[in-house]
Amino acid sequence: MANARFQRIAVLGCGLVGASWAALFLGHGYTVAAWDPDQATLDSLRSRLSRSLRQLRRLGVVGRGRLAVARDFGAAVDNADLIQENAPERIDLKRGLYRDIEAAVGPLTLIAASTSSFVWSDLAKGMRHGERLLTAHPFNPPHLVPLVELYGPDAGLVRRAAAFYRGMGKTVVVLKKEATGHIANRLASALWREAVHIVAEGIADVKDIDDALVDGPGLRWAIMGAHMTYHLGGGAGGIAAYLEHLGPGQERRWQDLGTPRLTPALRRRIVEGVLGEAGGRTIAQLERQRDRALIELLLARRRRRI
Ligand SMILES: NC(=O)c1ccc[n+]([C@@H]2O[C@H](COP(=O)([O-])OP(=O)(O)OC[C@H]3O[C@@H](n4cnc5c(N)ncnc54)[C@H](O)[C@@H]3O)[C@@H](O)[C@H]2O)c1
Repeated sequence: MANARFQRIAVLGCGLVGASWAALFLGHGYTVAAWDPDQATLDSLRSRLSRSLRQLRRLGVVGRGRLAVARDFGAAVDNADLIQENAPERIDLKRGLYRDIEAAVGPLTLIAASTSSFVWSDLAKGMRHGERLLTAHPFNPPHLVPLVELYGPDAGLVRRAAAFYRGMGKTVVVLKKEATGHIANRLASALWREAVHIVAEGIADVKDIDDALVDGPGLRWAIMGAHMTYHLGGGAGGIAAYLEHLGPGQERRWQDLGTPRLTPALRRRIVEGVLGEAGGRTIAQLERQRDRALIELLLARRRRRI
């Protein structure tokens, strides 16, 4: 099937996630062809990339890949070994795009879908060679956050893709079977569902919920996952002792968790709460603050070999 090594990467869709992937690929020296149907998005691409590339240099990623901002779709995918697809999260649009890709490229080109919520079998419907499609889900922003979640039916191709992403220092997890939201977004959604439920039930305000998360579990989760964290919650007896002692308490809590409806009134409360928490900081300011802290955190983890 696809090439063992991917050299020429096409990035389709250069919004939030596509531009960040492009920066990562360029920082690792790959040749990147970028395309987006929106001209304004393409016009701003180089300046958005230069900021991300500066951030990557702080992490020691100093390669200088070649970027071609493609004049059209055909020019972008021509000769690509791997296409990282970052079009909007709409199934009809993605399927149409895959049809166009298959009409334009040879059988060896791999398509990696950044999709947050679609599963491979939905996306591959209607493809001639569905086995060339993988879901390769990053976490925003992909040039900084290490995680990539992979799923595809061709084990050899998944292995080659995993080697490609790992070669750029990514943490790759491979799903044994497809799942809506892969792993990390299922976890994130489970947590946010409860955060929204806590607002809906009037248990706490948006900012207090976020503070509880960031200065409580979130701090530990940047170092150890949920299972490992509870291993330390059981004292010397570890996870087995934890399950014995506090397992019933966990079950009681699970039974009390909620599934809120995103009613207009609840949406309003969330929006007001978040804007209050943002305290006048713009999205761009918040992104800069997040990215600076992410880089410091990644460097600290590297020093500690975590
Ligand atoms: N935003 C996130 O946090 C996040 C995280 C991980 C994965 N993703 C996934 O990445 C993908 C893109 O999300 P985003 O947040 O970057 O969206 P976005 O809206 O920022 O960017 C989407 C881009 O796709 C372009 N586009 C529109 N039609 C297209 C087409 N037919 N072909 C190619 N490009 C087209 C748009 O002009 C836009 O620039 C989605 O599948 C999403 O699920 C998003």
